[in-house]
Amino acid sequence: MTTTSTGVTPAGLDIDARYSAAKSIAQEAARLGMEYYIRREDLEVMHKGGNRQDVVSIADKNLEDYIRAQLTERFPEDGFIGEEGGTADLGARCIWVIDPIDGTACFVNGLHNWCVSIGLMIEGEPYLGAIADPNHNELFHACLGRGAFVNETPLKAHPAQHVREGVTGVGTTHRRGKENFIPFLTGLLNEGGMFMRNGSGALMTAYVAAGRLIGYYESLINSWDCLAGLVMVKEAGGRHNDFFRGEGLLEGNPLLVAAPGVYEQLAGLVGPSLDSD
Ligand code: IPD
Ligand code: CA
Ligand code: CA
Repeated sequence: MTTTSTGVTPAGLDIDARYSAAKSIAQEAARLGMEYYIRREDLEVMHKGGNRQDVVSIADKNLEDYIRAQLTERFPEDGFIGEEGGTADLGARCIWVIDPIDGTACFVNGLHNWCVSIGLMIEGEPYLGAIADPNHNELFHACLGRGAFVNETPLKAHPAQHVREGVTGVGTTHRRGKENFIPFLTGLLNEGGMFMRNGSGALMTAYVAAGRLIGYYESLINSWDCLAGLVMVKEAGGRHNDFFRGEGLLEGNPLLVAAPGVYEQLAGLVGPSLDSD
C-alpha cells in the first residue's frame, strides 16, 4: 500500500479499489459526455449567477449524478464535493472531489478542450486522481507513490530552467481582480515567456505533469478543477503552491503548478497574491 507524503499509510482503506474506480468511472462519464457533445445543438445552455460566460447544461448535472451514484454504490462511507451537486459527509476520511465537465464553455461551443475530473482526498491530502479526455483518447491518472501516467505512459515534468524555455498555461476569472493577472502576463512576456489558455484548468494541470506546459497559473480556481491534476503534478516531479490553505477546498484559491526548474521564477512573477487573500 502507498503512503502519504507524511509517511502515514491510510490504514484500512482499499486504495486499489478507489484508484481503479476513479479511472473507470471517469472514462465511462467521458463516454457519456461525448454522447451529449456530439448533439450539443440540442442542449439548453444556462448561465450561472447571470454571468454570460459561466455556462452549464443538463450534461454537467447528469454526468455528476452518474459519477456520484457510482462512487456512492462502491464507497458509501466516503464524502463528496461536486461542482453541480454540492457536498456530502465532509467529515469522512475519504472525500471525492469531482468536476463532471471541466471546460464547459468549450463543451457547449464545440471546442474539444473538456474533460471529466475525479480526485480523491484522504485525511486532508490529495491522494489520487483521474482526468478523462475523450476527444483525444487520453486518460491521465496518478496515485501517491505510484507515479503519474497518460494511458500507460509515465509522466514527467518539463526540464525547463527558465520561462523562455516553454509555454505556460494561464487562466483567470472576473471573480478576482485583473490586477492579480495582468502583471503576471506582463512579467512573463518581459522574461521572454509565452502563454496559452485552453479553457480547461484540469487539462492544463495535467499538461504540466506531462511536460507539455512548463507551468500553469490561474488567479482563482476551485478544488474540483485541480485536485486530481495536483496529484499528477506531484507524482511527475512538479511543484504546486499551498492551494488548500484557508477555505481552498470549498471556496478555491489561486493556483500555480510548474516544473521544478521554473516554479520559483513563476511564483515570483505572480507575487505575494499567490499565497495571500
Ligand atoms: C473552468 C475551467 C477554466 C477555468 C475556470 C474554471 P468549468 O471550469 O477550468 O479553464 O479558467 O476557472 O471554472 O466551469 O469549465 O467547469
Ligand atoms: Ca471546472
Ligand atoms: Ca465544471
